[in-house]
Amino acid sequence: MASLPNRRSILAGGAASLAGGVLAAGAGWAVAAPAFPPPGPLATGTVGVTLVAKQREARILPEPAGPSPVITYSDDFPGPVIRMKRGQRLRATLVNGLDEHTSIHWHGIRLPNAQDGVPWLTQKPVQPGESFTYDFVPPDSGSFFFHSHCDTVKLLGRGLAGLLIVEDTNGPVFDADLPLMVKDWQLEADGRFGTLTSDRGAARAGTFGNVATVNGRIDPVIEVPANGDVRLRLYNVDSTRVVDLRLDGAEAFILAVDGLPLAPRPLDGWVMGPAMRIDVVFRAPAEPGRDIRLVNAYAAEPRPLATLRTAGAPRPNGRFTPRPLPAHDIPQPDLKRAETHRFDFSSTAVAQSFAPAVLAGLPYADSLCLSEKTFWAIDQKSWPQDGHERLPPPLVTLTRGKSYVFELVNLTPHLHPIHIHGYAFLVLGSDKRDLPRHHADTVLLEPKERMRVAIKADNPGDWMFHCHIIEHQETGMMGYLRVA
Ligand code: C2O
Ligand code: CU
Repeated sequence: MASLPNRRSILAGGAASLAGGVLAAGAGWAVAAPAFPPPGPLATGTVGVTLVAKQREARILPEPAGPSPVITYSDDFPGPVIRMKRGQRLRATLVNGLDEHTSIHWHGIRLPNAQDGVPWLTQKPVQPGESFTYDFVPPDSGSFFFHSHCDTVKLLGRGLAGLLIVEDTNGPVFDADLPLMVKDWQLEADGRFGTLTSDRGAARAGTFGNVATVNGRIDPVIEVPANGDVRLRLYNVDSTRVVDLRLDGAEAFILAVDGLPLAPRPLDGWVMGPAMRIDVVFRAPAEPGRDIRLVNAYAAEPRPLATLRTAGAPRPNGRFTPRPLPAHDIPQPDLKRAETHRFDFSSTAVAQSFAPAVLAGLPYADSLCLSEKTFWAIDQKSWPQDGHERLPPPLVTLTRGKSYVFELVNLTPHLHPIHIHGYAFLVLGSDKRDLPRHHADTVLLEPKERMRVAIKADNPGDWMFHCHIIEHQETGMMGYLRVA
């Protein structure tokens, strides 16, 4: 394993690429350590929403195809966008209009365990016709999202997700702030859903959709203010696909990863697995009618996803400088005293199968999102492990208040975006790639890669820890960590 970059090499590497950026682009942006503005005063008040999970119709394919029977939380398609300010309380009532139980997981939010939305682990599943109210104050500003945590191949595959944007109370002001959700759909020519999973897909990279969209639309044209500073919140909400989003026609900078700020860096290859997000900023061209293309470069040929077109009178902005977002206050792990835990991500030696009749007899089978087969494991254990009569034990029990370094080891030839609930990892390094030190709730493990991440175990409870390629999650690559 290559040695992890230390602070000095990170700074040197950062300065080198900054200098490169300045020379190449002639952009006058600061090389000095970024001065993150401190978090501003906390906003007050409560944001109340009602989210009715049910099947609705939405047009994804053009005529003559029919509308698609999507499953969503509101009449807004592709999903509701909840915007609130840091310090405000969210009261969100889930109404279950589905014919199966469900719950809402608030992805990326450091919240109390009882609000985390994992059936049986953190709450009783919400049965059809029932409702449940989530009530918490998100501690960090940033670009988060929410989705169900059971039967997710189907429910997320058909659209059951929404965005939760917690706005800064301080920091740079933008001329536009646009969330862009990247997601593929698996559709038949008539608009109905195709097969969302197959053993072949689940046991490999996952089953891919066949219709690429941004905000539920195929190659949309989205207006941005001419000469404006545009903040894009780029979300990969696909169940399977890995993307490398680039802007063709504008120089863009990453401001945040998974909603959490880092020093601005050029957008030139930030590969995102399912559930991962970046916030970027760019200065739009000054003339109206100019196009910037959002493309996915994670393909032999970059694939166009959307067009951003300048419009309106040019904004009176001076020279473009990407300014850092306000700092977060995630507790720093004590790396000197941290205990190290290794987690192995592997495929199962022998794919296990359960006969449907056996499954039907298992009281927790449905609740634990058990599928008929397992192909994947964490530390040789496939969720929900043997027995199935009750929750399996945690993968590991951590002591509240202590710091931990996790060594995440990918023993497979596939990519795995590994997600932790209730925490943000401090990403320390990889044996394969140079990564800046940053926080993230999901890290993408490349084939055979080994990454080191750290947390300070300050948030008590049982926290899911799983691959976010949903078919991998639902065929074994899932477990939980207990902080007690
Ligand atoms: Cu978005 Cu357990 O995940
Ligand atoms: Cu995976």
